[in-house]
Amino acid sequence: MSDEILLSVKDLEKTYGHERGLLSGKSQAVRAVDKVSFDIKRGETLGLVGESGSGKSTTGRVLLQLDKPTGGEIEFEGNRLTGLSKSALKPFRRQMQIIFQDPYASLNPRMTVGDFVEEPLIVHRLIRGRAERKARVAELFEMVGLDPSFAKRYPHEFSGGQRQRVNIARAIALDPSFIVADEPITALDVSIQAQIVNLFQDLQQRLGLTYLFIAHDLSMIRYLCHRVAVMLRGRIVEIGPTEAIFANPQHAYTRALLSAIPVPDPDIESQRHPIPFDYATQNSPPEATLRPVGPEHFVLA
Ligand SMILES: Nc1ncnc2c1ncn2[C@@H]1O[C@H](COP(=O)(O)OP(=O)(O)O)[C@@H](O)[C@H]1O
Ligand SMILES: [Mg+2]
Repeated sequence: MSDEILLSVKDLEKTYGHERGLLSGKSQAVRAVDKVSFDIKRGETLGLVGESGSGKSTTGRVLLQLDKPTGGEIEFEGNRLTGLSKSALKPFRRQMQIIFQDPYASLNPRMTVGDFVEEPLIVHRLIRGRAERKARVAELFEMVGLDPSFAKRYPHEFSGGQRQRVNIARAIALDPSFIVADEPITALDVSIQAQIVNLFQDLQQRLGLTYLFIAHDLSMIRYLCHRVAVMLRGRIVEIGPTEAIFANPQHAYTRALLSAIPVPDPDIESQRHPIPFDYATQNSPPEATLRPVGPEHFVLA
């Protein structure tokens, strides 16, 4: 990992439903992302963790400008992305990719997986010759651990893990530097999850990739992420080096998430006591800000 900051967000905000409700006349705004700030260094994996509905996917989508932020700044390699026109954004699109939770939903059932992986190469006119493109697709299949002969097959012929490998092959086709992986292993069998996590790590080393890795629990985060950001109701309540988060969690919500990690040993698992989190009394007040509690370690207080 380098010291160079690849991506930086400051006070990022996304509010849905600003318009007033037709019948009630009341504004029903949802602050999906509420003044979120963080940096990601080149070659780093930042984990983004929090329960369902906490704003993780919205953060990922807004970061890639797939959805417009309602406030804040995004900088990529020192270039400000917020406020750029569609055409000005285009050169950055190639650099930033996303992988979704459901590996089947993102595939096209009527397209061979080879054509699916080749498509971005055609759209971006990266490789002109057909034979060269096929060779690149074969290379991409090998990189994600799939036999290149599988390129002629259709999505329904694959297992969940293999489908996610196809999605990863497409995401790296344009040689991006940054990937948002939005719960990429959640829908997979537990036995397959570690393999896909290993693939992410392997590709990071080979290609120098930087990841924002989204998850709803902390179980795989420890092995994959250099730092972790914990999200609760649109806000980051704690962010820090993975070791510090696991050894010395500062926010009550982080402690609750840590206590919810299942343990493989059934005897220990049956003795485990999840710590509840009380939203009414333990949530940080609206005026709270991220305060340092250790090297690179901050808590909302
Ligand atoms: N397109 C949308 N329109 C309205 N509300 C949305 C939309 N997308 C997400 N939300 C709301 O924003 C909040 C955060 O959602 P999301 O980012 O999907 O959370 P997570 O990925 O952590 O489960 C939720 O309350 C959700 O209902
Ligand atoms: Mg989500």
